[in-house]
Amino acid sequence: MSLKFLFLLTLISLSANYGYCYKILGVFAFPGGSHNILTSKLMKGLLRAGHDVTMVATVPMNDVPEGGKYNEILIEGSMEYFTNFMLSKNLLEMKKDNFLKVMVNMIGAFQRFLTLTFDDPKVQQMIHSGEKFDAVILEQLTNDAHKVFAHIFNCPLIILSSMGPNSWVNDLVGNPSPVSYAAHFTVGDFSKDLSIYNRASNLVAYIGDYLLSNFYFLPKQDAVMRQYFPDAPPIKNLQTNVSLILLNSHTSLYPALPLVPNMVEIGGYFIDPPKELPKDIKDLLDNSPEGVIYFSMGTHLKSADLPSEQKRWILNVLGKLKEKVLWKFEEDLPEKPKNVFIKKWFPQQDILAHPNIKLFITHGGLLSTTETIYHGIPILAIPVVGDQSANADRAVADGYGLKLSYASPDFNEENFEKLLNEMLHNPKYRNNIKHKQKLYHDRPEEPMKTAVYWIEYAIRHKGAPHLRVAGVNLPWYKYYMVDVLVVILLGLLVVYKTGKWIVQKLFSQVKRGVSSEKKTN
Ligand SMILES: *[C@@H]1O[C@H](CO)[C@@H](O)[C@H](O)[C@H]1NC(C)=O
Repeated sequence: MSLKFLFLLTLISLSANYGYCYKILGVFAFPGGSHNILTSKLMKGLLRAGHDVTMVATVPMNDVPEGGKYNEILIEGSMEYFTNFMLSKNLLEMKKDNFLKVMVNMIGAFQRFLTLTFDDPKVQQMIHSGEKFDAVILEQLTNDAHKVFAHIFNCPLIILSSMGPNSWVNDLVGNPSPVSYAAHFTVGDFSKDLSIYNRASNLVAYIGDYLLSNFYFLPKQDAVMRQYFPDAPPIKNLQTNVSLILLNSHTSLYPALPLVPNMVEIGGYFIDPPKELPKDIKDLLDNSPEGVIYFSMGTHLKSADLPSEQKRWILNVLGKLKEKVLWKFEEDLPEKPKNVFIKKWFPQQDILAHPNIKLFITHGGLLSTTETIYHGIPILAIPVVGDQSANADRAVADGYGLKLSYASPDFNEENFEKLLNEMLHNPKYRNNIKHKQKLYHDRPEEPMKTAVYWIEYAIRHKGAPHLRVAGVNLPWYKYYMVDVLVVILLGLLVVYKTGKWIVQKLFSQVKRGVSSEKKTN
């Protein structure tokens, strides 16, 4: 055998094992900024691994990587609708609405994104083109109607969840979520205080969620789907026909929780290794041995929406510090102190990677709170909406952050200054986050590699039905053994009643015996 031939043979066998290219469809109808980052980063990972990716999206993918073929279907009108929806809301004002109103409002808006996707001519063309896919990926985000895509293309359905195991995804794969300690995502982490009050509040959240999703939300999803696909199976069946759930969580980020085998943690997969900073920012950070505070309220919230009185006292407090402050701020601040530097946008991850960053003042969004653990920077969280408050609670519980809710009456100059000074002068927060940082990075492989491996695994094994637990399709009364309990109780009742009857019979016979004996006497 010639050497050349041997080489060729090796190449062929290698490509047979590793070079398999799958066709993967991602349908991501919600235009929210952080969700776009999560979904497009996952699809980029698949492209780099050599797979062909079709993405139904609301924003074009920037910097499409080398690798498999990329095909993009941009949903018409979706971004426009989202922008108008967001413009009509000042997020800082939304705190005044009650939770239910916000949820119902959001669900209404989400439905529009679902129909805009189904209505799009390019999506319709894809559905009717006879094109084949090996897997469909969705992000779980009140979009169950879109699970019909996996049915149409008759392929495994893979779900990405922006959070850890939670009530939106647990039921899809029968994952146990003990109400006693698995916090509902609307309730803050209470794993370090399992008091009766906390456990009861958690139960209320679970029951509310169950009722809302089963009697309001899922029927709506089914109706939307049926408008376009009248013959599709019931949404309940599609919903639980899930091969794999990828969780953007990790035990360094969330409290430990049970996971069934087809749930895999890939927390932080979206974080790229730090890049070189732009020269002006790098010079500023390099020349600040006294330390720098990075202040950003994320992509959706605009610091410019802050009332001017709040802006004034925030600047007043920041101006007294010896540290410099980089504040992501969208408009000019004429009266800002000398140590405060503003820009519309900062390369956040690369800034957090700089050794002179001492503290991160953040809204507590999921991406930010993950990045801060990756880089080991303590946080002062000012949560406003959604999961931000729960993220902030975790930081407080784990001792690497403090929380000052925007909606709370405590949000004032005095408290801001007090918490800021506590964080800058007590070393405990830094020590705790450094510990978290070590836990975060101690894994067998990069989380993106894990994600790609398990997606390929689900496809290779035709949806990997062997990973699904049997309990996934059980109704709750069977899952919690209520039927068995009822049978046992009935059995006991029958035994008790018959026993009682027999004893009474015997007793009365004995009595009769005694009385007849008396008579004969
Ligand atoms: C359920 O998923 C499998 C792949 O895992 C797929 O082949 C099948 O068509 C799906 N069933 C329905 C009803 O969509």
